[in-house]
Amino acid sequence: MVETIQWTDSGVVMIDQTRLPLEEAYVTCGTYEEVATAIRDMIIRGAPAIGVAAAMGVALGVLHADEHQLDAQMATICDTLARTRPTAVNLFWAIDRMQRLYASLRGRPIAEIRSRMVREAILVREEDIAINRAIGRHGAPLVPDHKTVLTHCNAGALATAGYGTALGVIRAAIESGKQVDVFADETRPFLQGARLTVWELQQDGIPTTLITDNMAGHFMKSGRIGCVVVGADRIAANGDVANKIGTYSVAVLAKENNVPFFVAAPISTLDLTLASGDRIPIEQRSAREVTHVFGHAVAPAGTTVQNPAFDVTPARYVAAIITERGVARAPYERSLRELVG
Ligand code: MRU
Repeated sequence: MVETIQWTDSGVVMIDQTRLPLEEAYVTCGTYEEVATAIRDMIIRGAPAIGVAAAMGVALGVLHADEHQLDAQMATICDTLARTRPTAVNLFWAIDRMQRLYASLRGRPIAEIRSRMVREAILVREEDIAINRAIGRHGAPLVPDHKTVLTHCNAGALATAGYGTALGVIRAAIESGKQVDVFADETRPFLQGARLTVWELQQDGIPTTLITDNMAGHFMKSGRIGCVVVGADRIAANGDVANKIGTYSVAVLAKENNVPFFVAAPISTLDLTLASGDRIPIEQRSAREVTHVFGHAVAPAGTTVQNPAFDVTPARYVAAIITERGVARAPYERSLRELVG
């Protein structure tokens, strides 16, 4: 399986997701600033992968920081990483985890602080893979046999440290002996579905068909789609789900056609401080992502553009939220809090 992100002696190595599938190139970040740029420019993307990158970015920063100004530099490192992308809560979860460890190490020798921070970042990555496998185990029984699963964006190995959340559920269903194939929405404007989901499922030999986003309703109506499984960037206490732009439309179409719409995400994607999805910050990205495809203009120069990177699907469209601790169903106010414990 593809290695999305790794800690190495020369820095944090990431597969460059802006160049897939045309090129399998790797980027090495030697500083926390380079990690921040990689997150902002979407060299690495997907909520859990962003969390792992942020943890490794903090560790890199502490490794190279001036030991006499460690507190001030730690604050700058965390602030810089926190300003990269606003929607995926895993970014803030990971920074918070690293900050808590740092605070617990106050007064310890600098060498120990550095090695413990690096170990923690590596642990965040390892845990993420185990979490995704557990999400897969909980989700696999929900996937109908001999049907097509539709997914939106990329919530796979590339969006995590490995295996994936939504694609982890599909992988686990296939590993359990189910005969399923996948329909991947291309996911305009960044084309995570066409470029990343199709690429990584092909690597695994999972039968995958690429459709444009506006074809989803047509195929749901035909009865071919057994369920929809998507990932999430942030889930509010009432079960509202922020995910890649276009997810909301897919969820509404699924409800209209009696197709179950499942969300697969780790507990670290829950933000129970927010009562509803209305308060989830939605990242606005550059107009160029909409007006250009692979550097080529597809709209007249000077076109006015809106480019929200995420939308919020109201909880009433969500049949279940699959986590590493089990499956939550409505009413989510209660079921999500029970899972968090
Ligand atoms: O803008 P992206 O590519 O980071 O958005 C990714 C998504 O919306 C994913 O579905 C989500 O992060 C879940 S990834 C397991």
